[in-house]
Amino acid sequence: MKNKPDYISEIKRMKEEKNAIILAHYYQTGDIQDIADFVGDSLALSQKAASNDADIILFAGVLFMAETAKILAPEKKVLLPDLNAGCSLADSCKEKDFKKFIKDNPGRTIISYVNTTAEIKALSDIVCTSSNAVSIVNSLPPDEKIIFAPDRNLGNYVLNLTGRDMIIWNGTCHVHEEFSLEAILKLKDQNRESKIIVHPECELPVRMVADYIGSTAALLEFTKKDSGNCYIVATEPGIIHQMKKENPDKIYIPAPPRDSTCGCSECNFMKLITIEKIYNCLKSEKPEIKLSKKIIIAAQKPIRRMLDISGKKVTEK
Ligand code: 13P
Ligand code: SF4
Repeated sequence: MKNKPDYISEIKRMKEEKNAIILAHYYQTGDIQDIADFVGDSLALSQKAASNDADIILFAGVLFMAETAKILAPEKKVLLPDLNAGCSLADSCKEKDFKKFIKDNPGRTIISYVNTTAEIKALSDIVCTSSNAVSIVNSLPPDEKIIFAPDRNLGNYVLNLTGRDMIIWNGTCHVHEEFSLEAILKLKDQNRESKIIVHPECELPVRMVADYIGSTAALLEFTKKDSGNCYIVATEPGIIHQMKKENPDKIYIPAPPRDSTCGCSECNFMKLITIEKIYNCLKSEKPEIKLSKKIIIAAQKPIRRMLDISGKKVTEK
């Protein structure tokens, strides 16, 4: 029987040989984060995709992230090790339905969260991520009417902070809408000194008990700088890998879901990516992200507008 290749050293070798980089989201498994050239939240990953010297970008994340990289770097080969790595939130906003929504609510500036398909971005005026949604909305004149899509929880969070005239698409993420308030409060009771840290995609009752709300990068930064030593983490638990690397002596407790087959809050799309798939993908240079020129041109504008507003700040791993 043929021996399995040493995936890690082969990936490192092929990266050099092919001038490829691996961009990984915080929700990837620890082994993938550790071999990546760059680990970040959605904003930092898109900033990195827009500015690097590689010929090939291998995306260890989900489809909308790899598509965003392709839109920002159309001349590069962008690879995603498993094209089934989608996103329940992006899936909740279909092009045909969104076109009707826009038609039914005319005269509004369309802000779409980066967790959308390239087609939805192409219909938008400006893109945002969880780390810049509030500043993107605040960058618009105060009387500008807005459509915000597709996450209703992030949308309501932004609405509460900005008080803008916003109509919000009714989408959610299967991970973040499932956190159990009851289980979180029980954990808090058992760990009185802990702080509850929450991603804005979570439902209002969970956001209401939060000590801190932020994007994945912001949550990581909070645990780095905060003087506390125990955190109940209400987002996908992959982020805990970086939290432990930064502050190994602190305690991080993943917030439990109401119901899930694994009893955990993992994103089953993110977790489709494995080291073995990364090895095969880099070797065969497939699957590759392909988008039409028309979609790339149309989707580039709202993403570039976001990047211009967000400046050049990149959160390094
Ligand atoms: P961030 O932008 O905070 O990295 O979140 C991405 C995401 O998919 C949240 O579920
Ligand atoms: Fe999409 Fe939710 Fe997975 Fe993030 S955690 S990629 S929003 S399904």
